[in-house]
Amino acid sequence: MDRREVIRTGLALGAGAALGGRGALAAAEPAPRPVTFPDGFLWGAATASYQVEGAVHADGRGPSIWDTFSHMPGKVKNGDTGDVACDSYHRWRDDIALLRELGCKSYRFSIAWPRVQPSGRGPANPAGLDYYKRLVDALLEAGIRPFPTLYHWDLPQPLEDAGGWPVRDTADRLADYTGLVAAALADRVHSWCVLNEVKTFTQAGYLDGGHAPGRREPLAFLKATHTANLANAAAFRVLKAANPKVEVGSAYDCHPCWPATDSAADRAAAARWDTLINLWYLQTTLTGRYPALLPADRQAELLGWRTGDEALIKAPLDFVGINYYSGWKVAHRPGGTGIPGVNVEAQWAWSPRSIGKADNGWDIDPPGFYDILKRMQKVTGQIPIEITENGTADNTPAGPDGRFHDRRRIAFLRAHLTELRRAIADGVPVRAYHLWSLMDNFEWAEGYSQRFGLVHVDFAHGQARTVRDSGRWYAEVIRTNSVV
Ligand code: GCO
Repeated sequence: MDRREVIRTGLALGAGAALGGRGALAAAEPAPRPVTFPDGFLWGAATASYQVEGAVHADGRGPSIWDTFSHMPGKVKNGDTGDVACDSYHRWRDDIALLRELGCKSYRFSIAWPRVQPSGRGPANPAGLDYYKRLVDALLEAGIRPFPTLYHWDLPQPLEDAGGWPVRDTADRLADYTGLVAAALADRVHSWCVLNEVKTFTQAGYLDGGHAPGRREPLAFLKATHTANLANAAAFRVLKAANPKVEVGSAYDCHPCWPATDSAADRAAAARWDTLINLWYLQTTLTGRYPALLPADRQAELLGWRTGDEALIKAPLDFVGINYYSGWKVAHRPGGTGIPGVNVEAQWAWSPRSIGKADNGWDIDPPGFYDILKRMQKVTGQIPIEITENGTADNTPAGPDGRFHDRRRIAFLRAHLTELRRAIADGVPVRAYHLWSLMDNFEWAEGYSQRFGLVHVDFAHGQARTVRDSGRWYAEVIRTNSVV
């Protein structure tokens, strides 16, 4: 892959953004040139239970921390909640029809723990499991790989009431829930993802409080990281015990970390932040040891580490899921995080070589995708990688023709897929790409204000689904296994 071509793609996107004109962006795009992916590359799309299902009281589902959090005034933009979302609990046939229309070969969805185990403990709720059995069977029939994530942030509220992720017992609870799901589905689901973005749900949930359950407790956060790492490996073992043939991984959000200035202090701070967000979970799972970060003499106490945890925390993942969106700007700041030894102030969604901003304000940095894949490969070696998420918020409204001409999303995808292909050419073993998202959905603290979908959802008018231009463009990528 010619590096200059990549840069040209990026500049074209940046020029459009700088001119502020969507038409200008289209005009500035480079002449088409196909970038072909390896044979057998798996193309898919992703969603998550609380973001799309709705039906929060149906068939015995219990409350999750996101039900509680989204109903608290001021926590989510416009007071939005996932009560209805895309109503996929009832419209899953429509969703599968969309996947077929786009030609997706893999569907990454998540299983709602509170549907399966309404209080987070005890026997399975058969009606909850039936929903996922129907979904999985219909996907298989449509020739689409079902690719479930066991935990995409909807912790049963009673478990948070008992202390949540900072409490070690939550790892056993996740393992128990995994056993119930595996008993129902491990005979027909081959590829499993345990946790989605363990870094984000521990950090946003317990450190900065922007996500459910909204706690700002640095010491509890550290405990949560250890519980989540224990849970990840425990669920891995449960799935393998249910069916040794299944393959199990987790989805990690990984990000370039940029020093705010060139000072030695800021560069050291960026390295510490990289250790916390990119290595603390994934590397620990693969090696059984935490990377050096916390004061060594206090680490065991800070994490609640027990003798023998080295074996419990380790799992030889069959594949690694990577989510990529943007980078962090990191400065040295004593006491900045409240975590002992992590003296940083970090700003999310930033890049010094940004070529424009998505509608949610996130800096767009396509070469960051290449860089982070090369960086993470130092940790994952030859373990296959699946891109479990990548995408952008493009809120372009319908044009006079009633269609959604989301050219900036297409430019984003073209640039990122080109970088992905370059990483593969340079030896990173990526075998699949899941675009976030199949359709617009509940974007956590942003509510419904940010639209990530290949498919537009009209939340106010009967949930009508309309394939955007980007959806048609992506269908062509899948059909030809190449990016033009
Ligand atoms: C995350 C989640 C998704 C988001 C997506 C866009 O990364 O936050 O995995 O659920 O919706 O990433 O923010």
